[in-house]
This record gives sequence, C-alpha cells and structure tokens, in this order.
Amino acid sequence: SQKEERQATLDAFRLSKEQLAGVKQRMREEMERGLRKETHDAATVKMLPTYVRSTPDGTEKGDFLALDLGGTNFRVLLVRVRNGKKRTVEMHNKIYSIPLEAMQGTGEELFDHIVHCIADFLEYMGMKGVALPMGFTFSFPCQQNSLDEGILLKWTKGFKATGCEGEDVVRLLKDAIHRREEFDLDVVAVVNDTVGTMMTCGYEDPCCEVGLIVGTGSNTCYMEEMCNVELVDGDEGRMCVNMEWGAFGDSGCLDDVRTPFDCSVDELSLNPGKQRFEKMISGMYLGEIVRNILIDFTRRGLLFRGRISERLKTRGIFQTKFLSQIESDRLALRQVRSILQHLGLESTCDDSIIVKEVCTAVARRGAQLCGAGLAAVVDKIRENRGLDSLRVTVGVDGTLYKLHPHFSNVLHETVRDLAPNCTVSFLQSEDGSGKGAALITAVACRIREAGQ
Ligand code: BG6
Ligand code: GLC
Repeated sequence: SQKEERQATLDAFRLSKEQLAGVKQRMREEMERGLRKETHDAATVKMLPTYVRSTPDGTEKGDFLALDLGGTNFRVLLVRVRNGKKRTVEMHNKIYSIPLEAMQGTGEELFDHIVHCIADFLEYMGMKGVALPMGFTFSFPCQQNSLDEGILLKWTKGFKATGCEGEDVVRLLKDAIHRREEFDLDVVAVVNDTVGTMMTCGYEDPCCEVGLIVGTGSNTCYMEEMCNVELVDGDEGRMCVNMEWGAFGDSGCLDDVRTPFDCSVDELSLNPGKQRFEKMISGMYLGEIVRNILIDFTRRGLLFRGRISERLKTRGIFQTKFLSQIESDRLALRQVRSILQHLGLESTCDDSIIVKEVCTAVARRGAQLCGAGLAAVVDKIRENRGLDSLRVTVGVDGTLYKLHPHFSNVLHETVRDLAPNCTVSFLQSEDGSGKGAALITAVACRIREAGQ
C-alpha cells in the first residue's frame, strides 16, 4: 500500500540503539584522531585548541565589547561585568542583518560591513572614541595559536566570502577598521559560539564543562586534559577544545546511516562533501531533508496528489520555525494545513498527516545523532578523570534546540541511554555567546595586566 511505501522510506531515518551506539563509538575514534599530533592533519573532526583554560570564577570584571557572528543574528554588544558576591552582567546589544551579498561576496565587503555595524553601535551607545577590549565570537572553524588569533580553516553554513579562508580573522577585522580610519579596536579573544555558550552558562553553573549549539549549524566544545591536547605544549590542567563535530562523517564513516536524501541535500549545498554530520542535525538542513522526501513522495504519487508545485521545488522553504510549528502537539491538523498553505503548499488532511510524520522522523533522527555524539563527549570526560560516574552540565544554545517541541527531549533521552554512567544536566543559555566571549576577554585582560 501507499502507506507501506512511505514507511519503508522513513524507516531509513529510524536508527536502532545499536546503530546509535556505533555512531557514538565512531565519534570517540574521530575525537582521538583530531587530538593526536600524528593524525590531526588528516582528521575530519578537528578538535581545535581554544586557549581557554578555565571556566569563569566570578572575579572577572570590566566593560567589554563583543561581536557575535555566525548564527541567525549578527550582534554587537557592550557587556559590563561586575564581580563580587552578586555576579551581575549588564548587556546592551543591537542586532544587525548581514546581507547575502556580504556573506557570499568578497571578504573585504563582509568585514567592511561588520566594521560599519560596530561604528553604528558605538555611535548609538554614545561611545565613539572609547577604546574597549573586545571579544569576537566567530562561529566557524578556526585554527588558533593564541587566544587573540583565529585562522579560518573553511567557511561553513551560509557563508562563503572570498579571500578569508587561511587568513586570521582578527587581521581581516583590523584591516577593515584601518580602511575606515575612524577608531581602533583591541581584539583580545576569538571565541567559537560553543565556547562562548559554555562560558555564559559556566558563570551560573561551575559544573558546566561542555558547550553545545544546535541552531543554524551544530557543534560542541568541552574541557579536555592538556596532556591529551597534543597540539599545545604543556601537560598541566585543562583546555577547552572546539570539536567542530559538524565535519564528522566527511571521511565516509557515517555512510551507513546516511540516506539518499542526505546525499542530495549535501550535493546541493554551498559546501558539498563537507559538514555531513551537521547536515543531518542542524536547522539549516533539516527542512531541506524534509523537502527532498516530500518531493520524492510526490513524484511517486504518494503525496499532494502527485503534483509537484513550484513552491516545493524552492530551496529553503522549511525554516526551523516552521518545522517546530508543524510538530507542535498543541496544533490541530487544520493548523498544520494552514502552515503548509502559508508556505504555498496546498494540502489535504491526509497530506498534512504525512508531512508531519516526515518532519518527526527527520527531527528525531537529528536529535538522536546529536545525542550519540554528546554521549561520546561526556563519556570521554568521565574516562579522562578515571571516574565510574560523572556529573556534568552542558550549556546549550541555538534556535533548533530552543524552538523545536521535541528535539531537546529526544536528545536528553539518547544521552541517558548511551552514556548511562553520566548524569548530564542541560542548561539553556538565555544570554547568547557574546556574554561568554566578554568573560573570556575579561580573564585575558586580568592576566595581561598582572603580567605587566
Ligand atoms: C546564539 C549565539 O545565542 O546562538 C550565537 O550568541 C550562536 O553566537 C547561536 O551562533 C546559535 O544559534 P542559531 O540558531 O542562531 O544558529
Ligand atoms: C558550524 C561552525 C561551528 C559552529 C557551529 C554552530 O558547525 O563550523 O564553528 O560552532 O556551526 O554555530
């Protein structure tokens, strides 16, 4: 029957516990590969050292600027950190849009635009001419040789500005500032959004030693033992490692769980062959997987009365917010139909049931894969410390995690199943990663001053 045909297709998205355990195991192997000096260059999961060595301790203070680039919103922030018993952080921020031409044009255009926004913000805050130390949340894979440098390895998500890969983004920012000849900036730290999120959450909960993003993209960072971070000299203490787990699977090691739909989403993306794990998990891609399945069903006469509308052929129509709405339990099917109608898709009642089922299967698999990856991380932390059981907090941010009605539950459940020796708490960040970037900047400034 038609129903059986559809179920057969969706079965490829239903992963067994054994399959998920296999994903966890492979993630663990890829982590080792990224950390080891001899295997790092060829590794897909890069395990990048961040030069962040401790979580906040409450002694941070001062006024800082922060930039937050790489998620749904581009923000410029002023962060005022007061120490003492009552830790207070006061934040002012302004959201700016990054036009597609800036994201996918030349690097100069992109960084000129960023500097234009900083100038506007300083003007808006009445702070023109005030030189504050700055933390730069830059949510892309960067090789760091120090805290205040970040060489962009490759663009991910929706960015592909030319002339940036292989360059230090702090240099690119400074060059743009100098082109404008209006003000100067003291960039103290380049911070991945996972790291910023871990620090933001760590300010409230000292057990927070993992940062997770499930938004436009997906990635994780965690506190690793220095002796395992072979790319950095020294064996004492710990350092935060930006895993860049989105690239997991780029070696082909996830081919057994990828479906033909994943392959077509990958092939039509800005970065074919890259970020395969991310493309099965995060907000920028889940809707595209759904759309590809719907097209396939329609072609086979199993949906929309076999008629493929122009709308269905349009890339990017299913944003995270629509996926989240469609799966909301409070919605009657009538409302699902009206969402589809809003997207330009005429559906019958049966169609809307099918669409919802597709969304559920795709999002559930995303959450499970994410959970399998996270299980590998917390178990590694536990083993690093020679513990039988570990309590740890994961700081989380990202629109998919926050907006989707089931993603977080499935993720939590999967981690519990696959890492039974860890008690994992999830702390949702409400303040973005800019706050964490400011805290990192504050610590660096304190150390810098003490050294002078
Ligand atoms: C925000 C962070 O809160 O979450 C960003 O401040 C981050 O830096 C983002 O990239 C991730 O979510 P999304 O859904 O906007 O990609
Ligand atoms: C992409 C980026 C990574 C970032 C993640 C979440 O995977 O490469 O650096 O942390 O998206 O925004």
